[in-house]
Amino acid sequence: MQPWVYSETVKEHFLNPRNFLMGDETKYPHDTEGVVGNPICGDQMKMFLCVQDGKITDVKWKTYGCASAIASTSALSELVKGKTLDEALKVGPREITDCLGGLPKHKIHCSVLGHEALAAAIENYRKSE
Ligand code: FES
Repeated sequence: MQPWVYSETVKEHFLNPRNFLMGDETKYPHDTEGVVGNPICGDQMKMFLCVQDGKITDVKWKTYGCASAIASTSALSELVKGKTLDEALKVGPREITDCLGGLPKHKIHCSVLGHEALAAAIENYRKSE
């Protein structure tokens, strides 16, 4: 059996994902959403934001992505809550992977998925303003 290559923090976020949207998304009131696909692996991520006075007051997400995508987006969702939209956009894959204690190199692309869904949701929000 191969050794576990993920940090304990990754494992913890994967097993207990923060702000994961269970069930019917139409029952979760939100101000904007964004959906993206990862061109490298084809996985999808959908993110929902509540925005008040230019700040993210709540975040939910769902994905068909892998364990790294789940852990990364879980961490991202905690990092962006309470931030302004511009501040949230600055939380990139480097900050996410640092927060997780690193990711294997071949899994870095998974950490981008949540960030891109967040950016899509913010773009959609700004278009609707
Ligand atoms: S392999 Fe697709 S998101 Fe990780």
